[in-house]
Amino acid sequence: MREFILKANKAITSGDVNLKDLPGSCGRLDLVCRCVSSAFFLSHDLRRDTVFYSVHYGNPNPPVALKFVGSELKRVSPDERSIAIFIKKALEKEHLSVWKESTSGIYHAKKEFRDIILERKKEGKQIFYLHKNGVPIEDLINPSNCKKDIVFVLGDHIGIGEEDEKFLDEIGAERVSISPLELHANQCIVIVHNILDKIKCTYFSNSVS
Ligand SMILES: C[S@@+](CC[C@H](N)C(=O)[O-])C[C@H]1O[C@@H](n2cnc3c(N)ncnc32)[C@H](O)[C@@H]1O
Repeated sequence: MREFILKANKAITSGDVNLKDLPGSCGRLDLVCRCVSSAFFLSHDLRRDTVFYSVHYGNPNPPVALKFVGSELKRVSPDERSIAIFIKKALEKEHLSVWKESTSGIYHAKKEFRDIILERKKEGKQIFYLHKNGVPIEDLINPSNCKKDIVFVLGDHIGIGEEDEKFLDEIGAERVSISPLELHANQCIVIVHNILDKIKCTYFSNSVS
């Protein structure tokens, strides 16, 4: 399983989503939608081995966490507007401390970014923090650990902030770099998938699922 956890510092936390203004009044919800698209959509297929979390810290009711499960997603299409419609539906719900399903494969909860990371760590998953100045990914991911459950944490246009970087250091999350250049969050997701796909195709009978 591949998991991505995005900190969306300004993303809206109510169902008051204006589909015509995702970047502005919705707090860069366009960026979240692009990450969802990059996490799951192949040409005429979906990545069923992927889970994507987006933790929203924008107004009016932070935090709100969304979870997208590739093996359960239905009816969502890759364009930002379609994804935003499903996010709006999830944000309209009442959020509890436990995950509740909004539409097929899309869950919502009142959870903090750090709690979601800690939950994954307690499940025994390896946590990597995507960071331009981290260790090159090729030095960390290899045929033996790429088959295991791996979690990648990443920031939005603002990043994750010093406090959360400190938290990740304290829990032993390794910083991993995929390029010497500063990339957009959705580009990072595409590149990570590509690197893992290539390792799996090379070493495991041409299968990426
Ligand atoms: C647009 S960047 C954030 C830029 C922000 N100003 C900052 O200082 O973090 C979005 C996220 O993508 C990830 N990222 C960007 N470039 C990367 C790279 N070369 N290697 C690994 N992760 C990268 C990081 O997690 C970053 O928080």
